[in-house]
Amino acid sequence: MSDSPVYSGRSKRGMTVPGFIKAKKDGRKLSVLTAYDYLWAEILDEAGVDAILVGDSLSMVVQGNSTTLPVTLDEMIYHAKIVARGIKKALLIVDMPFLSFQVSPENAIANAGRILKETEAAAVKLEGGVSQAKTIQALTSVEIPVMAHVGMRPQSVRSLGSMGRIQRDEKQLLEDAKAAEDAGAFGIVLELIPRSIAKKITESISIPTIGIGAGPDCDGQVLVTQDMLGLNGDFHPKFLKKYAQLRETVTKATQSYISEVQNGVFPAEENSHD
Ligand code: KIV
Repeated sequence: MSDSPVYSGRSKRGMTVPGFIKAKKDGRKLSVLTAYDYLWAEILDEAGVDAILVGDSLSMVVQGNSTTLPVTLDEMIYHAKIVARGIKKALLIVDMPFLSFQVSPENAIANAGRILKETEAAAVKLEGGVSQAKTIQALTSVEIPVMAHVGMRPQSVRSLGSMGRIQRDEKQLLEDAKAAEDAGAFGIVLELIPRSIAKKITESISIPTIGIGAGPDCDGQVLVTQDMLGLNGDFHPKFLKKYAQLRETVTKATQSYISEVQNGVFPAEENSHD
């Protein structure tokens, strides 16, 4: 068989779904970050992150909503398209927003199909384990790679009553992870669960676990980029490490610009055309 990209099973990007699973077998930890636009995707990709997630967190981070519920499938597709243009190597995963997969497996196939056909995404992510096993199975049976998401599920905020609560039902969490694996998921996000349970899940399944607030024993980690870079000033959960203080940096730079414009310091001679 030719080595054309169509038949070789390799995406034009560096990381593939099989490569993601292999990383666990090789004992190599996976790094995942969110992006919602071209420039950030390009920066993260060039820095070498394994996967970029267009999370439905864009509802809060980009659109300023108080939950992830309002973002639409069309909006997710728009952002995934512009993120894809910035990626050369990372695996592009796109979240299925609220009610784009819960209605029926057939509806989920149609919506996930749109994501794969209209963007350059390699995979979709959806919230749920046991409750979504049939849908995960339906998607993987038509070759749509799925990452599951168990533990704290932000799309359930209305029924659970709040976000940010640590999920401690070990039996349920183990069942959710196993159900997702059995249904064909290639990875699972574990959100806000105790470290000991995340370790047990990670050791009991063969697909990578990607933790957020789930401790260091997961096969990889994911963070919202704006949180990781300290752009989201008021957000300080215990699980978050801020690798920069960009809000402060950007505020100071903006204040310098304002003051230099007001004082006639900018533009200077070197910024002017003859
Ligand atoms: O929407 C999102 O960004 C996510 C990650 C936090 C895992 O689901």
